[in-house]
This record gives sequence, C-alpha cells and structure tokens, in this order.
Amino acid sequence: MPKGFSSVILAAGEGTRMKSSTPKVLHTLGGKAMLAHVLDTVLGLKLDKNALVLGHGSDIIKDYLGTRAAYRDFKLVLQPQRLGSGHAVKQAAKVFSSYRGNVLVLCADVPLIKSATLKELMDIHKKQRNAVTVLTTIVPDPTGYGRIIRNGNGEMTKIVEEKDALAWERRIREINSGIYCFNAQKLFRILQRLKPNNQKKEYYLTDAVELFGRQKARIGTMLCGDYREVSGINNRRQLAEANCQLNQEILTALMMSGVTILDPATVWIEPTVTIGRDTTIYPGTMIQGQTRIGEGCQIGPNTLIKEAIIANGVEIRASFIYEAEIGARAKIGPFAHVRPKTLIGEEARIGNFVEVKKSRIGRGSKVSHLTYIGDTTMGAGINIGAGVITCNYDGANKFETLIEDNVFVGSNVNLVAPLKIGTGAIIGAGSTITEDVPPNSLALARARQVNKENWALQKKKK
Ligand code: UD1
Ligand code: CA
Repeated sequence: MPKGFSSVILAAGEGTRMKSSTPKVLHTLGGKAMLAHVLDTVLGLKLDKNALVLGHGSDIIKDYLGTRAAYRDFKLVLQPQRLGSGHAVKQAAKVFSSYRGNVLVLCADVPLIKSATLKELMDIHKKQRNAVTVLTTIVPDPTGYGRIIRNGNGEMTKIVEEKDALAWERRIREINSGIYCFNAQKLFRILQRLKPNNQKKEYYLTDAVELFGRQKARIGTMLCGDYREVSGINNRRQLAEANCQLNQEILTALMMSGVTILDPATVWIEPTVTIGRDTTIYPGTMIQGQTRIGEGCQIGPNTLIKEAIIANGVEIRASFIYEAEIGARAKIGPFAHVRPKTLIGEEARIGNFVEVKKSRIGRGSKVSHLTYIGDTTMGAGINIGAGVITCNYDGANKFETLIEDNVFVGSNVNLVAPLKIGTGAIIGAGSTITEDVPPNSLALARARQVNKENWALQKKKK
C-alpha cells in the first residue's frame, strides 16, 4: 500500500436529483449502500486516517454507521451548510492540522471505484510529487460533469463545471471523476482561498486546480480507462446504470468460476452471494444477501432467494425462498414459498403452491401440492397429500405440530396444532385432526358418507 495517505470522503450533499427522503448515499447498489461501497474500498487501502464529511441527512447516516462496527474508525465531520465540495473538504481541516502526508478525496456518490485504480492514483501522485492529481476519464456523454481543460501542451489548467462551461468546453468529453489526491498541507491552505464565483455560488473543490496552477504548484492527472468505474450517481437513472454495471461484473466473475447463467440481462446476484460450479441460473432470478449455493444446482426461472443456504444438486423452480436451508438434491417448486427458519432435508420435495414456515422437513419427505406447513417438525419418508393445512394459529397463539417418520397424510386434511402424529400413522383424506395420533394407526375424522338410492331420480320426477 502507498504510505503517507489519508482520505476524506464527501457525503454531505443533499442529492436533490434523487427526489428521495432517503439520503442519496444510502441508496443501494448490489444490496449495499453506495456509501458502504466507498467506505469498504477505503478500508481495504489501510490508510493513516479516514474522515467522512456528513451534512444533509447526517442523523440517518449516523444511525446507519452506528450499527456497523467496521466503520467505527471513520472520523465524522459535519458540514453545517451545503456550500460546495471545497467547503465540505475544508470541514475536515482539524483532523489533518498536524498531518504531513497526502489526502485522497473521494465522493460517496462515485461508488464503483476500484482499489487498484486508487492505488495507481496514489502512486502517480507520490512519484510526481504533485500538489493535486485528478483522476479523469473519458465519457460518451459528459453532461453534468466537470470538464478537464488542457492547454496547448496537453497540461490540465482547470476544471470547469457544466453550468459555468462555454459551448466549446461543454463538448470536451474528458471529465473530472470527483476523485483526487492532494498534498494535505497545500490542500487546506488553498481551500482558504476558494471563492464562490460561479453559477451555483458554491465553494468548488475543483477550483483548487486552477489556483495551484497559478502558484506554479505541480498538478497532474491520471486517466481511468473504464469510465463506468467512476460514474457519478446523481439521479435514479444513473443509479440503475451503476447497479447494472456492478451486477454484470458479478455475473461475469461467476461465469468465469464455472456457473452457467443463461440470460445475464435478467439475472441479479448480489456480491455477497457464492455459487458452486456447474450450477445453472435461469432467467428472471434474483439471489441476495449471504446466500450460499452449492454445485450442480438448477435455479430458476423466476426465482428469488435471499439469505439462504442451498446444498449441492438442488432444483428450485419459480419459487421464493428466504432465510432457509435446503438439503442436497431437494426439489423446490414451481411456485413454492419457503419462509424463514425452515430446513428442508436432503432429497425432500416441496411442490407447487406449498408454503413452509419455521419448519423442518426430513430427508426424502414430500409435500407436493397446495399445502401450508408452519411451526412443524417433520421426520423422514413422509408423504403429505394435496391441500393439507397445519392449523398452527388460533388467532392469538402459535402451536407446533410434530409428524414422525413415514407418516402418510391423505389429501385435504387439517392438522390442528398442538399435535403429534406417531411414526407410520395414516391419516384419512378430508380429516380434521385435533388429537394426537398413536404410531402405526389409522386416524379418520370426517363425517360418514350416506348414499340414498334413487333419491336423485325421484327428485327429477317431481
Ligand atoms: C462533482 C464535481 C465535478 C465532477 C463530479 C463527478 C465539484 C464542484 N464538481 O460534481 O467536477 O465531475 O462531481 O461525479 O466538485 N458535497 C458535499 N457538500 C457540499 C456539496 C457537495 O459534501 O456542499 C459532496 C456530495 O455529497 C458529493 C460530492 O461532494 O459526494 C460532489 O457533489 P455533487 O453535488 O454531487 O457534485 P457534482 O455536480 O456531481
Ligand atoms: Ca455527484
């Protein structure tokens, strides 16, 4: 790691263009706040110290940070009024009053920046002994960005913001990424001299470049080859584009590691997910959180999996699964709903229109059609017929059901909890079972059938 660097991360802006009551930097990419993307990248650089400038929505952001121990060491600095990016950096002056190194300035709304790029920027900055080194890039559409103005020798002389740019300057496609390295002492000295002489009447950090130039201080640039890495997010359109970019990177890494993804355009996988080799992901699938999927699974189409652990060889079709564990070679769906605290055993089968909540389904047991299993412990080798309901709730309290190995439950049965069904028992179709069933017995709880001969014929004659 380059030595002698600290960071200042800017996150005080209002983010008006998001039109949101959530602070902009808490909007998520790949399931993680864009602020957290930047903070994690910075933590990976192991810098001397890190300052985070907050302003708009600072209470909400502090609450967010408070629940995450990893971010404890960021020095929080408040920018009481939003007077511009230069004013924002200035608020961190106290943190660096006796600091002799360099400061990496990052924007919390440029979340996809990679640590390798930052290391290169810091190396160049140090080698060239610059007062400032600006990370630039060339974009297809520069609208909204600060343009890099260069002289006849190709040297950067200043950065001009969109609103202040002349027509020819607006045509420049090399833009300021909002990421820079500064010599710390020179930075905080030059910030004293910024003036809000621009359309927005703000103290622009970008004006430091021109001021340094006039002082004949060394100024440099580094061009980032992939503009998508430094895309700034100011509105929801840009949020969607960055999300898409991050997702495609994740999918590519998964495909390179041996996962088949039939249609990367419709599959969304968060960076926290791991998937084993030879698993196939079908279109319309979203996999989120700390989900682990084994090898040789078939997932999708049209499936949502969140915070789940899926063993090898599992098949999940058109189903929603959250906070559950699925054993090897189990088959789920189509149209199953597997809810939290559920454990599906190896080779078990959860079929169409089946909901399972807070239950254990033993090895090889089958719940194939139109069933609700809640607060239930099921052993192995059980067959649950179509339309079976565990009645676990009396309107006030929840009760548990225990079904032992090799039980057969006929179709359309109500199992009124609390209830225990002994091993090997058979429950007749259409029964409403309210009492425990001893092992190996037959339980019938339904009205007897009555056949009235010729009754229908007589009715028709009348
Ligand atoms: C800024 C740059 C622009 C660059 C673009 C890259 C300036 C003047 N312009 O423009 O050259 O191309 O980023 O994405 O810096 N902030 C504060 N306090 C403030 C104002 C802003 O903390 O008073 C923070 C914001 O939270 C954000 C960053 O500074 O993280 C940039 O501010 P923003 O308003 O998004 O500037 P842009 O118009 O995107
Ligand atoms: Ca921005």
